[in-house]
Amino acid sequence: MNNDINALLAGRQIGHALEQPFYTDPAVFQTDMETIFYRDWLFAVAACELEKSGSYVTHTVGAYRVVIVRGVDGEIRAFHNSCRHRGSVICTAAKGNAPKLVCPYHQWTYELDGSLLWARDMGPDFDPSKHRLKSVHCRELAGLVYICLADEAPDFDSFAELAAPYLEPHDLGNAKVAFESSIIENGNWKLVWENNRECYHCGGNHPSLCRTFPDDPSVTGIESGETPPLLAAHFERCEAAGVRSDFQLDAEGQYRLARMPLKEGAKSYTLDGKTAVRRWLGRVPFDDAGTLLKFHYPSTWNHFLPDHSIVFRVTPVSPTETEVTTKWLVHKDAVEDVDYDLKRLTEVWMATNDEDRRVVEDNQKGINSPAYTPGPYSPTQESGVAQFVDWYCATLSARLAPKSLAAE
Ligand code: FES
Ligand SMILES: [Fe+2]
Repeated sequence: MNNDINALLAGRQIGHALEQPFYTDPAVFQTDMETIFYRDWLFAVAACELEKSGSYVTHTVGAYRVVIVRGVDGEIRAFHNSCRHRGSVICTAAKGNAPKLVCPYHQWTYELDGSLLWARDMGPDFDPSKHRLKSVHCRELAGLVYICLADEAPDFDSFAELAAPYLEPHDLGNAKVAFESSIIENGNWKLVWENNRECYHCGGNHPSLCRTFPDDPSVTGIESGETPPLLAAHFERCEAAGVRSDFQLDAEGQYRLARMPLKEGAKSYTLDGKTAVRRWLGRVPFDDAGTLLKFHYPSTWNHFLPDHSIVFRVTPVSPTETEVTTKWLVHKDAVEDVDYDLKRLTEVWMATNDEDRRVVEDNQKGINSPAYTPGPYSPTQESGVAQFVDWYCATLSARLAPKSLAAE
């Protein structure tokens, strides 16, 4: 199959959507999982979800089940959620709190750092130290927890060093999840991303988002040429107030950061454009600082606003199903119905996610037709989509290429 994928990659028309198999073929899907999702750093949870020692959250990525847990030392660690006895899943709930991780099958009991504490009747030669939970790479970045399933994780530091000053003013360490939603979109994960990376569709599909979010391609796309003067002035004003804002795109194209203005007069993603939370999360000094847009392929895009933050997580489920999880983060001391109204806080993105689900599903259905042929991207409106697809193809090509002897 790799030969077929290489042939598809070699034959693709730059500036066009991908050929049908990229969105439908189970073998391409498996390749996507093995070469991208099982190898890259993935956003998993917000650190505030692991409130205290023993708090855990489980996450499934393809065939892998992971448990992320805060230890007695405060450290957040990730483990394969598979018992070292006969392999049972250990933590079966989506989240919880436990002083020890106890396998439900025969009660092997693990410390929160993964060491095996207790296993009944295993004989005199049994060595618990040989049966620790298997670790998954885990890094916390300014309140966001990333994991990597690869044996050897790729570099995380370059991204972390760039992103930390942008995230720092949002104080995600002092957040709580006000609300979360998980939906399954019946579309390939790349269609979810392609849709996210343009706002060509916004005017026709997102009436509530368009009240506050500009569908200007300089906001959603990639920077080309000079920064428009209004944008440059916005970056300058935020940076003068100590809030890192300028546009940064990774040389490899995997991540991007930029603090973009919302529509004139808009402060947050609400129907009236005013802020949604009275007690702000973070120390962004003015309410019209816009939204810090961050994406990190293949698993997350985020919006960080002066009053609250929204994190999105993308997890492929099958060639034509993708889970999209959205979490609204507010200050941990903000009180519902006093400092914020949950409906007002969430309604714009709840509607937008549902509208995006619909367009992604319609896109998938049309691509499933034998009559589908890839069409061209708009050079002005869809530079972000082209950027994503180019990153995907380049990443796949590089990782599928046979390692040259000279390089070893
Ligand atoms: S499989 Fe976990 S204790 Fe037996
Ligand atoms: Fe959208």
